[in-house]
Amino acid sequence: MADQKSLDGNVAVITGAGSGIGQAIARGMAAEGAKIAICDIDMDGAEETARMLKDEFGTESMTVNMNVIDEEAVNSGMGKIADKFGRIDTLVSNAGIQIVHLIEDFPYDQFRKVVSIHLDGSFLTTKAAVKYMYPQKRGSLIYMGSVHSHEASTQKAAYVAAKHGILGLSRVMAKEGAKHGVRSNVICPGFVKTPLVEKQIPEQAKNLDISEEKVVNEIMLGNTVDQEFTTMEDVSDVAVFLASFRSNALTGQSIVVSHGWAMR
Ligand SMILES: NC(=O)c1ccc[n+]([C@@H]2O[C@H](COP(=O)([O-])OP(=O)(O)OC[C@H]3O[C@@H](n4cnc5c(N)ncnc54)[C@H](O)[C@@H]3O)[C@@H](O)[C@H]2O)c1
Repeated sequence: MADQKSLDGNVAVITGAGSGIGQAIARGMAAEGAKIAICDIDMDGAEETARMLKDEFGTESMTVNMNVIDEEAVNSGMGKIADKFGRIDTLVSNAGIQIVHLIEDFPYDQFRKVVSIHLDGSFLTTKAAVKYMYPQKRGSLIYMGSVHSHEASTQKAAYVAAKHGILGLSRVMAKEGAKHGVRSNVICPGFVKTPLVEKQIPEQAKNLDISEEKVVNEIMLGNTVDQEFTTMEDVSDVAVFLASFRSNALTGQSIVVSHGWAMR
């Protein structure tokens, strides 16, 4: 008999799984036996993830065109996932963007866009997912926070506000979800080299009038214990651990994966 894997039988919905951290979490959970719903607005990326999962692990997955701030798309997408797989065990609310400006230059519509994708997106996908988790008496909500859920950096008013907000939403869900067997936790990564971060390096160098090397070594990694980037696999390992944890003992927490940038 094949060895039991930690997520055998688990159905995981991952937003923003067409790229970066979301794609790595899809791989990590698929490797542990989960079936994966790959949700994104970038369908080329989503299809690439699906191919990767099939080739590497023979995983059964589905791609879902889901803009996390479109309530109708979220609700109908979650319904299709439940129809196909029969249940929803894990939600990884990961889709996100970054826009950086000093406050005096921050266009209001761009502030709203960042806050909305992170915070409204987490709210809408949570609301849609618990509809299936509560009757099962089982579920794990995993939110993608950031070190910026605990710390602040200049130029990131929208991102920091949104990532702090996610902590609050997750803690409410730990309390509301407990009697339904649903746990809720936040992963808070330090800088991870993904398309989202690659884009920030030249932008910050220009905005702050410093070299790209200084942005990496001083701004991004200056407060780590070893000047190392966190990897996508580091974040994925924590997501698998949270999804497979057995009881309500681990709920309402944020786990910081940042080479010691933030210690709490
Ligand atoms: N990269 C880092 O250093 C880092 C650190 C801490 C936290 N995070 C968080 O991790 C998450 C993933 O970031 P990443 O670095 O992998 O970025 P990424 O740009 O590689 O991937 C983000 C994915 O989200 C998707 N997306 C964007 N808007 C969407 C929407 N409205 N609906 C559905 N999908 C949407 C994109 O199409 C993309 O596939 C984000 O929440 C980000 O804030 C990243």
